[in-house]
Amino acid sequence: MPPTPATAPPERVAAGRLILRRVQASDASAIAAAVSASLDHLRPWMPWATREAAERGNQLVRVAEADHNWESGLGFVYSVLTAEHGTLVGEIALHLRDSGQSVELGYWIAAGQARRGYATLAAEAMTSVALAMPGVTRVEIHVDAANAASAAVARKLGYRLDRIEERRPEAPGESGRLMVWLRDQAPGEDA
Ligand SMILES: CC(C)(COP(=O)(O)OP(=O)(O)OC[C@H]1O[C@@H](n2cnc3c(N)ncnc32)[C@H](O)[C@@H]1OP(=O)(O)O)[C@@H](O)C(=O)NCCC(=O)NCCS
Repeated sequence: MPPTPATAPPERVAAGRLILRRVQASDASAIAAAVSASLDHLRPWMPWATREAAERGNQLVRVAEADHNWESGLGFVYSVLTAEHGTLVGEIALHLRDSGQSVELGYWIAAGQARRGYATLAAEAMTSVALAMPGVTRVEIHVDAANAASAAVARKLGYRLDRIEERRPEAPGESGRLMVWLRDQAPGEDA
């Protein structure tokens, strides 16, 4: 069973230099601007990274969908903000899979903010949040085999490569070999 809103993750998570905060309508302009400035960086890996995604109106629709999913307990999208200035640097999301036993983590960081450790920090915090959710026993990061940066994040956080699946590429940089990285609940951690 997916978690009810009562068992949803916290809306705000402190992660060192970052704050992860439930995405909200007032983020739409900043998300659109970050996507617009990052299209070449995102397009190889993110099928949604189009010129339309760089428009505020479309981001408002996305936030409304994220709200619906949050309230339904299906998925939880966060804006990644700097703790110091509240600058939006990307997004991270938890998607419930496998009847709520598994969480898939997805993330992107704006081109101008990359290689500062932000994805690692955000994914580390969200891994702990996911594993603390009732019923969740594992967290997965799905990464195309050609996406060295995202694989580096999973590896650095102690995820293990569980398997590689063949699939049709969905974005232009993808090889069609999907790495599934896995973190299980450590013994003694809350279920
Ligand atoms: C993948 C992504 C989120 C990484 O964000 P980031 O904030 O730059 O990552 P970090 O700074 O935490 O770096 C994590 C590791 O990745 C490595 N890395 C970052 N960019 C890299 C690149 N282009 N090539 C190879 N390694 C890279 C870093 O060196 C770092 O490892 P290190 O500390 O051992 O040096 C970002 O590049 C991105 O948004 N890419 C496009 C969208 C995407 O691929 N999302 C994930 C889909 S599965």
